[in-house]
Amino acid sequence: MSFSVAGTRQDTPACAEGLIHFNNAGASLMPRPVHKAVLDHLQLECDIGGYEAKAQNDALLERFYDAAARSVGGKRNEIAFIENATRAWDMAFYAFDWQSGDRILTSRADYSSNMISYIQVAKRYGVEIDMAPDDESGQIDVTALENLITDRTRLISLTHIPTNGGLINPVELVGKIARRHGIPYLVDACQSVGQMPIDVEEIGCDMLSTTGRKYIRGPRGTGFLWVRDSWIEKLEPPFLDNHAATWTSVNDIQIRDDAKRFENWECYFAGKIGLGVALDYGLELGVTETWARIQTLSRSLREGLSALPGVTVWDKGERQCGIVTFTKKGVAPQTIQSELAKHKINVSLSSRQLTRDDLVAADVDVTIRASVHYFNTEEELGALIDIVRKTD
Ligand SMILES: Cc1ncc(COP(=O)(O)O)c(C=O)c1O
Repeated sequence: MSFSVAGTRQDTPACAEGLIHFNNAGASLMPRPVHKAVLDHLQLECDIGGYEAKAQNDALLERFYDAAARSVGGKRNEIAFIENATRAWDMAFYAFDWQSGDRILTSRADYSSNMISYIQVAKRYGVEIDMAPDDESGQIDVTALENLITDRTRLISLTHIPTNGGLINPVELVGKIARRHGIPYLVDACQSVGQMPIDVEEIGCDMLSTTGRKYIRGPRGTGFLWVRDSWIEKLEPPFLDNHAATWTSVNDIQIRDDAKRFENWECYFAGKIGLGVALDYGLELGVTETWARIQTLSRSLREGLSALPGVTVWDKGERQCGIVTFTKKGVAPQTIQSELAKHKINVSLSSRQLTRDDLVAADVDVTIRASVHYFNTEEELGALIDIVRKTD
């Protein structure tokens, strides 16, 4: 299967129903094969029982690990299926035995849930948080970040593509710094896996988390964590169950030696199969091709919006992705969102709560977030731009 816009639209039933979906950074639309795989497994659970369905579909469940590994350039034993990106990230982050005086090095545009976790361990254990400033383009200032490293820096933790804008952080450059200083490196790739080519070796990270429902186009309630094999046994998960560990004697346990130590025994099996199918679907289309298409569409959308009177496009960074954020002077973002909704155009709103420090700096409370995917069209961009122009 090679990539064609028409082919992917045929695989996306809502496109034929006239839905214009620019909320792919929220949750994208599942392609038919993904939807079918999820429904088939749920049906099998109804027909023969949940445990029996799992046994029958074991090969499909295992296929998820190969697909996830290929999607990030890792190995299958380094993958854990987890219900969302936040919990995947947490399983790595809370596996560190945080000590008073440890320092976490992060950036201004990190995701709110990650910030909440930093603050929690700061309050609980006396950990310090160092926040690298942005450079002139708005991406992480890599030199300033390196200057913040001390011998107490325990973790470098960054968000690749922040939730609220087009910025792509230069995570590969930071990877080189992390290596040079021998500091573990955690990357939140929630918005980037499925959107752009991802290779953990190129990034140089040790842990990477992502979600299923966004650019990967998997089902909701799915995600995964990748942990470099040399790090797996150094990280003791914050929670263990009888899948992650074995009760070896009355007073002892043995934790697994693969990344499944970060998983739960009970999980959304239909979703796990669906996520594997979604990852394979994206790989078969060719991530290089689909990424080129996303960049062309988002560039065109930014140009079209910027040309409208009163409209400001807020996306920062030297390199930008499919997430386009904007406001219109004198018009509430909620008004624009509901006008678009009347025309079956989905967008979302980004608020301070999601990436607080970033928006505080920009002095904007709420922006409209239109996130494009490869199946969107120029005509759909035109429809959005037209409504934004007319709304006041
Ligand atoms: C950058 C980033 N990280 C993490 C998350 C959390 O993902 P999940 O809702 O799957 O936990 C999001 C969700 O929007 C995000 O944009």
